[in-house]
Amino acid sequence: MRAAIYRSYGPPEVLNIEDVEQPTIKDDDRVLIRVYNASVNPYDVLFRKGYLPTRIENGLTKPKNHTLGIDVAGTIEAVGKNVDRFKVGDQVFGSCIGSHAEYVCPRQNVLSFMPKNATFEEAAAIPCAAQTALQALRDVAQIKQGQRVLIYGASGGIGHFAVQLARYFEAEVTAVCSTSNLQWVKDLGAHYMIDYTKENFADNGKKYDVILDAVGKRTFFSCLPSLTETGVYITENAIYPKYHPIQLMIGSLIGHKKAKVHLTKPNDKDLDFLRGLVEEEKVKAFIEKCYPLDQIVAAHRHVESGHTKGKIVLDIKME
Ligand SMILES: NC(=O)c1ccc[n+]([C@@H]2O[C@H](COP(=O)([O-])OP(=O)(O)OC[C@H]3O[C@@H](n4cnc5c(N)ncnc54)[C@H](OP(=O)(O)O)[C@@H]3O)[C@@H](O)[C@H]2O)c1
Repeated sequence: MRAAIYRSYGPPEVLNIEDVEQPTIKDDDRVLIRVYNASVNPYDVLFRKGYLPTRIENGLTKPKNHTLGIDVAGTIEAVGKNVDRFKVGDQVFGSCIGSHAEYVCPRQNVLSFMPKNATFEEAAAIPCAAQTALQALRDVAQIKQGQRVLIYGASGGIGHFAVQLARYFEAEVTAVCSTSNLQWVKDLGAHYMIDYTKENFADNGKKYDVILDAVGKRTFFSCLPSLTETGVYITENAIYPKYHPIQLMIGSLIGHKKAKVHLTKPNDKDLDFLRGLVEEEKVKAFIEKCYPLDQIVAAHRHVESGHTKGKIVLDIKME
């Protein structure tokens, strides 16, 4: 099968399309998926560059796992003995390491059925970014109707889902993005917009019950003046030293304001929930560009730019 392979850490050019062995179902609760689409996430860029914390997991000097990708949409071609939820031919989407390849073998508990009204491209854009936004708002922030919620980095993968989800939870949504994305993010459902190239939201005196820093560009301390007395700040950036958990712990001692680092936990229940919201047209994935697999280098460059609007997706399906 064809796959995007990296055998050393480095720039996007370390990625090449190679013919590699197709995976087979080894565990009884796995399924074999023919991949139609997979998205490219900042997570893939960090692993490809060999950022130090990723090397602890994937090899200090060179990568042990050679295929990137964490989101998938495709059809099931085979099922393990203990798979009770899916059958051959089902169209599914979900979380799967190594999805920048024509076949993958994930466990059934990180998959769901494709939303009936979504394309494979749209379904592949959902898992990591939308689960991250959902878990941050619903589980970590415990978002409530009427709360004031600020989404920082509202035009990115996580951010554009977070705006739609915060609206679904009936919060009052303030979204922060750059000038060219203001109208688009407003149309996603934000009540108020702030252009970060013109205004620092922390200077305007407004207070929020929840601040979700979806792009990990703000510190807890810089958000403190904008939190209500019991406000929660959540960052998605768990690894850069300047956002180290120690700062968050110290920050948490200040009054009742809370700082939390969120790590996404892929699971079928959240995918089922998101599938329902997509089918009810409460949430929709926006895809800025879909690259063929053999343009994997260009796709990585795009994501690495840090200015993706919505999601970047790969087209992997064989003819
Ligand atoms: N903790 C976890 O488990 C977890 C899970 C998933 C992702 N993450 C991390 O979360 C972060 C965001 O992921 P993502 O997929 O949403 O990224 P993304 O799609 O690449 O984010 C791109 C967006 O960031 C915005 N942006 C760039 N600089 C900004 C700034 N200074 N202020 C405000 N917005 C800015 C851009 O808007 P403009 O073009 O308008 O500047 C663009 O729309 C990444 O660091 C990723 O590694 C963490």
